[in-house]
Order: sequence, then structure tokens, then C-alpha cells
Amino acid sequence: MRIGVYPGSFDPVTNGHLDILERSSKLFDRVVVAVIHNPQKRGFFTIEERVDILKNITSHNPKVSVDSFSGLLMDYVKNQGAQAVIRGLRAVSDFDYEMQMALMNNKLSPEIETIFIISCPQYIYLSSTKIKEVAILGGCIHGLVPSLVEERLKEKIKLLGSGS
Ligand code: PNS
Repeated sequence: MRIGVYPGSFDPVTNGHLDILERSSKLFDRVVVAVIHNPQKRGFFTIEERVDILKNITSHNPKVSVDSFSGLLMDYVKNQGAQAVIRGLRAVSDFDYEMQMALMNNKLSPEIETIFIISCPQYIYLSSTKIKEVAILGGCIHGLVPSLVEERLKEKIKLLGSGS
């Protein structure tokens, strides 16, 4: 059984992530979307919220499961019985960081491959950071994120604005 782990912050998941996920699920028997839990980094959405969103929007795809992890990615990948890590590449600017990670992971666990999938052109400029920035400033993010993310972003921004 070919298993791939698609790790990331997914704060929040964008249509760019979803495109990578759908395409990678054609290459593997199972893809585990793994949301990193970094206690030192406070996100916009909690880990539980991100996992819940991801579960909702991937429920149509039986090959996809959603989980969270902390610690070394390579330890998690091995525990899952996976053979590969999946990462999306948007532009050259992603390359340095991704290569550093892939080479470090390869040093730690040479038997695990990192597979890069090039983002489709319509999502090349998308990032979770930009999505949050635009949404917080009242801009339109329609078509860039799943509609559930749009809803949850609106709710969260309203909640933060009301001071609760
Ligand atoms: O979506 P992101 O924030 O670009 O994802 C980064 C992620 C989760 C892939 C990366 O931070 C990671 O793998 N963290 C786990 C820690 C680890 O294994 N570090 C050593 C290898 S570089």
C-alpha cells in the first residue's frame, strides 16, 4: 500500500492546497493530511479547527484522511507506514526552503522520498498568510479557498473584532 503524508500548517487550507491534495491522491493509495502542532506558534485557527475544516472538505475522497502531529516529521511519516512526503511548489521562492527541508529529511530518513507537485498556475500566488490578510482587511477571497473556509474566516474575524 502506497501512503503519502501531506504535511503543513493549513492555517487555513486554500484551494491551492486542495489542488495538490486531489492530484496527489491519484498517485497514492492513501494520503494523510498532517496538520503540524507547534506549541510555540500560535495560529489563527486552532489545530482542532483546521483538522475539522480539512475533514469536512475532504470527506468526498475515501483515499484522504486528516490528522495532526508534533515533533519530527520523519518520525510521524514512519509511524504512519508511509513512503513519501508530498509538498506543493508554487514559485522559485519556495525552492530554497523546500530543498533544505527535503535534504534534511533525506539525511534523517533516506528511505522516505519527498515528492514535489507544481502548483497549477491559477493558484501560484495563493498563500494562507495572504488569504488571512485580505480577509481581515475585508477583501474578497471568494474562489481562493473552499466556501467552508470563507465562512469560518468570517466567523473568526467577527469574534476577534467583538473582543471575545
Ligand atoms: O505549511 P508549512 O508551514 O510550510 O509546513 C511546514 C512543515 C510542517 C512541513 C515543517 O515545518 C515540518 O516538517 N515540521 C516538522 C519538524 C521537523 O521535522 N523538522 C526537521 C526537518 S526540516
